[in-house]
Amino acid sequence: MPTIGAANEAGKKLAQQGGEGVQACSSCHGAQGGGNAAAGWPRLAGLNADYMAQQLTAMANGTRSNPIMAPIASALSEQQRGDVAEYFASLKPPTMAPGGEVDQKTLHRGETLAQRGDWQQGIPACTSCHGLQGQGVGVAFPSIAGQPATYLQNQIKAWQSGSRHNDPNGLMASVAKRLSDEDSQAVTAWFASLPAQPSNNVQ
Ligand code: HEC
Ligand code: HEC
Repeated sequence: MPTIGAANEAGKKLAQQGGEGVQACSSCHGAQGGGNAAAGWPRLAGLNADYMAQQLTAMANGTRSNPIMAPIASALSEQQRGDVAEYFASLKPPTMAPGGEVDQKTLHRGETLAQRGDWQQGIPACTSCHGLQGQGVGVAFPSIAGQPATYLQNQIKAWQSGSRHNDPNGLMASVAKRLSDEDSQAVTAWFASLPAQPSNNVQ
């Protein structure tokens, strides 16, 4: 576990108490950054710091359009985005997966899609980019294991509708556009059933 240095104290304060025009992140993302499965709000604990900083910038400039996060991200300076991202990256993710009520058949379809894709639909294996356990790879490929299924599904919908278009080379947009609603539900349920793992913050 990295220790929390001086730069990180600023991030911790923003996370827990908020700042000028900024609500405390913990009020939605949980006291330990574990997210809120019922509301579909993502876990931040243990995500890659640079990935989170990039997403905050995308939410501020509208390439990832979200009405809740846009004003919050816009109110943060670049320095603050870096500080708060570093703080959440240093937290241990929850060991319990958010899961949800899903039948075995759906989970099985989700696992197959995640690990092998569906070549007839032109869908590549999610794990080929997101890591074998969905744990994420470096700054470019985020951890999706142990995120609330609703949150993951909302992201797929956002790429389908074009309200999120911040991904490098449209990599995720082209995958999302090939997923049917049923397959999206199955694959996100499977990732939500896996426990989160800290991303490696190298790279
Ligand atoms: C009022 C509730 C609320 C507050 C307060 C809030 N967030 Fe969020 N946050 C959300 C929601 C909802 C999403 C998902 C947005 C979407 O669906 O695209 C989100 C998404 C994110 C993401 C993207 C995660 C990912 O995996 O891509 C980051 C990073 C983030 N928030 C950071 C913060 C930080 C830092 C703060 C405090 C300065 C904060 N949030 C405060 C509700 C909130
Ligand atoms: C070719 C590589 C690639 C493949 C295959 C891929 N993804 Fe992604 N995915 C990405 C990239 C890149 C991002 C980050 C986009 C960004 O920077 O905002 C991403 C982001 C995501 C996110 C948003 C996570 C967050 O918190 O911000 C979800 C959800 C997701 N992918 C689900 C899937 C699923 C489900 C599959 C399989 C059906 C899949 N991905 C296959 C490259 C890929």
